[in-house]
Amino acid sequence: MRLVLLGPPGAGKGTQAYRLADRFDAILIGTGDIFPENVKGDTPLGREARAYMENGELVPDDVVVLMVLDRLLQPDVANGFILDGFPRTLPQAQALENALADQDRPLSGALKFVLSDELAVKRLAGRRTCVVCKRTYNVEFKRPSHENVCDRCGGELLQRPDDREETVRHRLEVYHRDTEPLEFFFWERGLLREVEADGSEDHVTERAVEAIVDLVEERR
Ligand code: AP5
Repeated sequence: MRLVLLGPPGAGKGTQAYRLADRFDAILIGTGDIFPENVKGDTPLGREARAYMENGELVPDDVVVLMVLDRLLQPDVANGFILDGFPRTLPQAQALENALADQDRPLSGALKFVLSDELAVKRLAGRRTCVVCKRTYNVEFKRPSHENVCDRCGGELLQRPDDREETVRHRLEVYHRDTEPLEFFFWERGLLREVEADGSEDHVTERAVEAIVDLVEERR
């Protein structure tokens, strides 16, 4: 299965991506993870990405495309992947489509998680992320068993610099302007499915699994 996840910041793409990757035995590729790795490693690409991310702006397409397509070429991805956070612009979507066509591995679908801006702001303001394994928690909706400690790996939980309310609102504007047009791109190709993202994590997973099974059946 080769799947793209769409939806506003805070819709729960990262949360669901882990669950869906386990369920469908696919490799999870998250730009939210690839970028910090590069930024932390102080690579030239990482240095370029850092300033954009901290201000809630999109990283330029040429930088993003290089990082993600490089990851997609690695052998562990051959059996399937879930892309969380890519593509986010039309040029990125076109680059992905071309790269997959070259490898004769077309996308199975694009799943859009639907959530209001207000709920997205509320979720992100309370998000805490594990510095080690990147699992996310929420001070309101999903507390860890011990304050500021990851249940899964024991890592420290911190608030991301771009999760301050003002920056979140700017990220939402960028999302509506640059990423929402991708829905039409995928819809035109018969690849788009919408999933209501309000509700418990388990309910959202059930809805997503149903939509994926539906997509895969249709493309047989
Ligand atoms: P990225 O890290 O990908 O951020 P994002 O897309 O803005 O998405 P988020 O991680 O904020 O939200 P999410 O939908 O994954 O929600 P989550 O599951 O964490 O990107 C960061 C930056 O990198 C961008 O701003 C940009 O600068 C750059 N970038 C990345 N990709 C790029 C690209 N392709 N091109 C250019 N630049 C790019 O959940 C959020 C919170 O809600 C958590 O606290 C969680 O516990 C909680 N939650 C989740 N589900 C539920 C539920 N069902 N009920 C209650 N709470 C829930």
